[in-house]
Amino acid sequence: MTGAAGYIGSHTALELLSAGHDVVSFDNYANSSPASLARVARLTGKAAEIVEGDLRDAPALERLLGNGAYDAVVHFAGLKAVGESVEKPLLYYDNNVSGSANLLRAMQAGGCRKLVFSSSATVYGAPERCPITESFPLSAVNPYGRTKLIIEDICRDLAASEPGWNIALLRYFNPVGAHESGEIGEDPSGIPNNLMPFVMQTAVGKHDSVKVFGTDYPTPDGTGIRDYIHVVDLAKAHSAALERIDSFKGAEPVNLGTGKGRSVLEVLAAASKAVGREIPRTLSPRRPGDAAECWADPSRAKEKLGWTAERDLDAMCRDHWRWQSKNPSGYR
Ligand code: NAD
Ligand code: WQD
Repeated sequence: MTGAAGYIGSHTALELLSAGHDVVSFDNYANSSPASLARVARLTGKAAEIVEGDLRDAPALERLLGNGAYDAVVHFAGLKAVGESVEKPLLYYDNNVSGSANLLRAMQAGGCRKLVFSSSATVYGAPERCPITESFPLSAVNPYGRTKLIIEDICRDLAASEPGWNIALLRYFNPVGAHESGEIGEDPSGIPNNLMPFVMQTAVGKHDSVKVFGTDYPTPDGTGIRDYIHVVDLAKAHSAALERIDSFKGAEPVNLGTGKGRSVLEVLAAASKAVGREIPRTLSPRRPGDAAECWADPSRAKEKLGWTAERDLDAMCRDHWRWQSKNPSGYR
């Protein structure tokens, strides 16, 4: 697992270790710390093997994968801050795109051709309608999104060039929540851009109020609609993808969402219920680049993976709040 120490990686490591897999973590801790994996080891009673390394270090990847000992690679590692990607596009192309090319080259050399890749609903750009199926047109609206699109294209080209690749391109919608133990969760560095971590940090007093970006969208309550998905459901989808990876012929996309769109005001209401008091909010202008609605048609995930999301918005908020209130400063 590349990026195993991160938010989604740590939850997936927990899931895979619990299912009896042996896990090797490859992470440079650019946006995480080994503390998350130490907690995963405590929760599961089984430790991942830890390798500190950078995707941009091609020889390190070749050494790691060269022994042919791996059944599959789950590739989470990447930078994911949209705003930063606009300011530092070369950092994103180097880290995410070149890093992924290095990984694929090392897999090819080591004889491992099974990959589960963290793609994103951002590859649908500004979708014309919802729900979104995997056959919708692809486009990028910022450099981060373009890195995901390019990596998907590299995977498709590679699989077309050589038989035997099994690649699951998992397109996540909006991951939120935390493991129900409250021991692992999302630990954003700096001020979070994403709604749920900002809401929960506001609830612990780190911010005065949540800005509701846009109240005049053509949606029932005027605020933006997204498909929030519990990170534990997402982790289980990775486990299912690994179990069925042989059914992926070449590189095939699968949406990972619940199929239910929720508005910003609905999230604030559910979060306030979980926290036990009203979370302060300020009605604000739209954030540039935001779509009114983005939610998945998750039927292919059900067909291909035998997986559907089980946890609702209340569970997402309850579990995210448990993590945030037990760990107001994350892993620090
Ligand atoms: P995260 O930042 O918590 O985890 C990413 C991990 O990758 C971190 O541990 C980081 O240290 C590591 N990493 C980054 N660059 C690296 C490099 N060059 N070499 C080695 N390790 C490196 O992010 P996350 O939320 O867990 O996301 C995981 C993946 O899912 C990312 O690829 C992200 O783009 C994708 N994704 C995330 C979301 C989301 O909203 N969280 C949505 C869609 C897709
Ligand atoms: C959700 C909704 C905002 C913050 C981003 C990336 C995407 C993907 C997931 C990785 C929107 C509103 C937000 C706030 C608000 N990441 N909002 N106040 O924009 O759907 O997707 O994260 O691949 O690429 O673009 O997620 O959590 O930022 O926003 O009102 O303080 O909440 O307008 O409607 P988004 P988000």
